[in-house]
Amino acid sequence: MADAAFAGRVVLITGAAGGFGGLLAARLAEAGAKLVLGDRDAAGLERRAANLRESGADVLAKPCDVTREAEVEALVAAAVSAFGRLDIAVNNAGATGAVKPLVETTEADLDFALAVNAKGVFFGVRHQIRQMLTQGGGAILNVSSLAGIGAGPRLAAYSAAKHAVIGITRTAAVEHARDNIRVNAICPYYSPTPLLSEGPLAGRADRLAAGSPMKRLPEPAEVVAAMIALISPDNSYVTGQALAVDGGISAY
Ligand SMILES: NC(=O)c1ccc[n+]([C@@H]2O[C@H](COP(=O)([O-])OP(=O)(O)OC[C@H]3O[C@@H](n4cnc5c(N)ncnc54)[C@H](O)[C@@H]3O)[C@@H](O)[C@H]2O)c1
Repeated sequence: MADAAFAGRVVLITGAAGGFGGLLAARLAEAGAKLVLGDRDAAGLERRAANLRESGADVLAKPCDVTREAEVEALVAAAVSAFGRLDIAVNNAGATGAVKPLVETTEADLDFALAVNAKGVFFGVRHQIRQMLTQGGGAILNVSSLAGIGAGPRLAAYSAAKHAVIGITRTAAVEHARDNIRVNAICPYYSPTPLLSEGPLAGRADRLAAGSPMKRLPEPAEVVAAMIALISPDNSYVTGQALAVDGGISAY
């Protein structure tokens, strides 16, 4: 990708060992960004960072469980200590958790989904904004889901958490619109990353594709292209949005 807008920008990505996060890191490395990568999967994260460094990227990788506020805060601090600032943050770490009917969903299922998907984003936004305020601005992208703007059948806990991500996003965007900090969310439909192909949703791809007006699932690269558009420094008047990347499902 030859997008000069990202050259030299310091970009933090959580869940960077996974599908969307890893691909986004690779695209931004090609564009000359300095990367700060976090994931709770320390081995996967180190593999990812090593690959990127081999191709010449400037990468700091630090294991980070986003359910632990101190680790989220430490990742932001590591970005500042290595590169002096934080221009862009992508709160992408997430997990589906239980896939079962709402009436069978337990308190533990709900707690898990909220901790990873909602509290993790809340902690990230809080510490990233504190840093961005000290340096005069920045951009944040929170990864929600199509289940964050509509129903998530058999995904009640995940859907609740991804709805919360949009509430955090909109509130932060409005509170910090005059601080030159943009905050947006992205809401993808199912895409064949490990989350879909290795998790509890494995084997459902054909059925899920049939639910889209395009009659196919989005490639991870198509989701990442929309992520890049939202965080681009050129995209300076878009804030507080929850962009569906869903082949038109939400247009019905
Ligand atoms: N793939 C899809 O179909 C889809 C659709 C909508 C939204 N999403 C969202 O996109 C984001 C990225 O998912 P993906 O599809 O790349 O899945 P993935 O499973 O490939 O990647 C998720 C990454 O998050 C990491 N992670 C999980 N819990 C964590 C924690 N507590 N702390 C730090 N890291 C943690 C995992 O180790 C993994 O590397 C998630 O927020 C997911 O909910 C995915």
